[in-house]
Amino acid sequence: MSEKERIDESVLALFDGGEYRTAGELARAAGIGPGEVNESLRRLEEAGYVWERHPVRGIALRERPDHLVHSEVAPYLSTRSLGRSIRFFRSVESTNDSLLSPLFSGAEPGTVLVSEEQTRGRGRLDRRWETPPFRALLFSVLLGAEGGPTAAGRLTLVSGVAAAEAVRAAGGPSLAIRWPNDLVAERRKVCGILCEYKPESARLVLGVGMNVNQTVEELPAGAASLRTLSGRTFRRGPLLAAILNRLEVWVDRAEAEGFETVRAEAERQSALVGRSVTLERGEGRVEGIAVGIGRGGGLLVRTEEGTREYRSGEVIRVRPVGEE
Ligand code: BTN
Repeated sequence: MSEKERIDESVLALFDGGEYRTAGELARAAGIGPGEVNESLRRLEEAGYVWERHPVRGIALRERPDHLVHSEVAPYLSTRSLGRSIRFFRSVESTNDSLLSPLFSGAEPGTVLVSEEQTRGRGRLDRRWETPPFRALLFSVLLGAEGGPTAAGRLTLVSGVAAAEAVRAAGGPSLAIRWPNDLVAERRKVCGILCEYKPESARLVLGVGMNVNQTVEELPAGAASLRTLSGRTFRRGPLLAAILNRLEVWVDRAEAEGFETVRAEAERQSALVGRSVTLERGEGRVEGIAVGIGRGGGLLVRTEEGTREYRSGEVIRVRPVGEE
């Protein structure tokens, strides 16, 4: 965090409930001079904060823009470890890449990196993940890598369950898990999860991209946002905190009770189970009925040859059973 950002954060921290503050109070609390207070207020105004200035009472904050800053997330966090250290960026190439870069080699598990924009956001199978700034949630979480690469698939499901739960609790739409890494509603993709394990550094990073406040015009074909689905906008800071809160609960639960609890929940929330699917794999296509989520976090597909758990592949078609 730069010195200016630190000053802006401490100025903002003094405006919680619409109260008035004098310039002197702000200067004392932030440990700066009156000139710097004015500069900070101006910077914040440019960023979308709206101030009311009263000749006697002082200054009050009347509107906050929906920007991901510490004061928008921290008050809503109830975690023990996840997000206790959060780094906020205006723009990065990819939050996963940044968190895996040498810059964060000393970061503790639980560290979160958030950005308003990505210039090289990545999805599965090297697809691009593009969103306009200030509209989506783009973040990565550094996690303990005890489980190694096999933990990545399971963790993707843990995150899917947690994120869907947080969205519901925020009054958002009901999202279903489309194995292996998507959350969908009305067959449209709302959230993608990219969990990556780097053996050279034994680090596991969970990246989440959620379409929150994009309009229809700002979304790619086949995608939806919480806004297009529910007709209202969402404050992204509290939503990020809610996802981290639920993520920690589910990670703890998976550790204490084993993966079975998560597996059963992911199966219950699945957009695929009970439907005919076409699964594309390197060695060819599998046609069958998705009958569940397996113990390894893969998709259980029943074909004429029997039921098998597939841990990789791309579901390219979903339809009601019996429909060609
Ligand atoms: C997918 O749908 O294939 C996964 C998309 C994951 C996108 C998120 S956005 C935050 C994090 N950083 C990235 O570069 N990708 C993930």
